[in-house]
Amino acid sequence: MSNQELTEFVDTSDEWIYSHTGISYRHIAAEDEAASDLAIPAAHKAVEAAGLTAKEIDLVLVATSPPDYVGLPSTACVVQDGIGAVNAGAMDVMAVCTGFVYALETARAFVRAGSARHVLVAGTEVYSKIMNWSDRNTCVLFGDGAGAVVVSPTAPGEPSRIIDSILRSDGSGATSLMRPCGGTRNVYVPGQTPDSELALQMDGRKVYIFAVRAVVDTILEILDRNKLSLDEIRYFVPHQANRRIIEAAAKRLGIPVDRFYLNMQEYANTSAASIPLALNEMNANGLIQRGDKLVLIGFGAGLTYGANLVSW
Ligand code: ACO
Repeated sequence: MSNQELTEFVDTSDEWIYSHTGISYRHIAAEDEAASDLAIPAAHKAVEAAGLTAKEIDLVLVATSPPDYVGLPSTACVVQDGIGAVNAGAMDVMAVCTGFVYALETARAFVRAGSARHVLVAGTEVYSKIMNWSDRNTCVLFGDGAGAVVVSPTAPGEPSRIIDSILRSDGSGATSLMRPCGGTRNVYVPGQTPDSELALQMDGRKVYIFAVRAVVDTILEILDRNKLSLDEIRYFVPHQANRRIIEAAAKRLGIPVDRFYLNMQEYANTSAASIPLALNEMNANGLIQRGDKLVLIGFGAGLTYGANLVSW
């Protein structure tokens, strides 16, 4: 869906959206597609690329915020069944736009502890179904998508390729980005709950200020504690929320914005799916080679934020 198409039902313009966000398009799931429907093909491809069969997967982790069902069952169970991972446990990781960063570290912890050998990690989001399509403050920003990876042990004696992670949260900002009704705090009351309360709501300014700080602070901390300089990172791969957030962070770090891989122009903000979508695109286009160091950076509702330092 292009910015131009949005102007047919909401008071906005291509110029405003692109200049404020760097977004030109977003992909929208079909009416009958849920989060798991996007995750399953991505998961199949990841398992195949890892040279495995689904039966060899021990754990399925799905990072998603609007899941297939509210609360139960987990979307991960639907994905586990969909790919035939008959020997795997399955659970959702709920950290919204930081979900992929959290899930990757969870996978690393399981593999390191020996509790799982091969872990499928998928990020999948169908935000289009929880949008208030008449709220121009939010509906222009988001899109649907999914991506997946498999985390497996390295050969004995080889160092981990997920080198380090930082996971952080600040629940005092919980109301800055939320879906107010439909859970146990504000239950859905038919005929009384306004539709807008079932949709995503956001205080854009607050989120912007938080996000710039989160990107800068997590990058500096993860580099510092691994004794790496900004120059040693091939690409910074941020959650693709908004180009202006990344431009402001790059300026504060004193590096050109092109050190960050950005593709929100095509996909908009796909929350937990944005980092695996970017990784897949970078890999397919030959932008990253084995051994390149990357920092993946997530930030989003919760508030949550964090980073993974990885060697591709
Ligand atoms: N089209 C046209 N005009 C708009 C639109 C739109 N889609 N949205 C807002 N405006 C108007 C406002 O009404 C306002 O008009 P006014 O001055 O007449 O009142 C004007 O544009 C400026 O509005 P601001 O909200 O001040 O715009 P700002 O420059 O702050 O940009 C934005 C808004 C892009 C949302 C910014 O605050 C931002 O980037 N926030 C972070 C949002 C984000 O990325 N969230 C997701 C991250 S976390 C996650 O991924 C879950």
